[in-house]
Amino acid sequence: MKILLLISLYSITLLANNYQSLLFHGNCTTCHFETKTVSAPSMIMVRDSYIKAFPDKKEFVSYMSTWVHHPNKDTSLMDQSIKKHGLMPELAIDLDTLREISTYIYNTDFKKSHKGHK
Ligand code: HEC
Repeated sequence: MKILLLISLYSITLLANNYQSLLFHGNCTTCHFETKTVSAPSMIMVRDSYIKAFPDKKEFVSYMSTWVHHPNKDTSLMDQSIKKHGLMPELAIDLDTLREISTYIYNTDFKKSHKGHK
């Protein structure tokens, strides 16, 4: 019984992570590659800047999702990237979805995961 419960909890965690991963890959990686900076800073760079400013997961998720909802150069953490690429366009994605995506970014070490991706 206990084992079954553990297995189901584990599957739910896996499912949630897959769902967030799909949202992230479907909405962000056309511009943000994971490790390479091309038309937008790599996810490694974005994540590093945000983790430095907000080591706490709740604050990280809250700040990032709010910012992406309405990109704004006054509250940007990445002035240099705006100079280089221009301000990120506003995407038609609701705040709840952006919170899922930001959680995925917080939880993912792009340096280690997804070997073989760009
Ligand atoms: C159409 C291209 C494009 C898409 C799609 C895109 N971004 Fe960006 N993003 C950019 C560019 C360009 C920058 C660098 C300029 C800037 O910071 O505004 C950027 C910067 C950022 C930053 C740094 C903001 C700061 O502090 O300046 C975050 C966080 C971010 N993107 C998250 C996301 C997430 C999450 C998604 C998917 C939901 C996403 N982006 C989708 C182009 C894009």
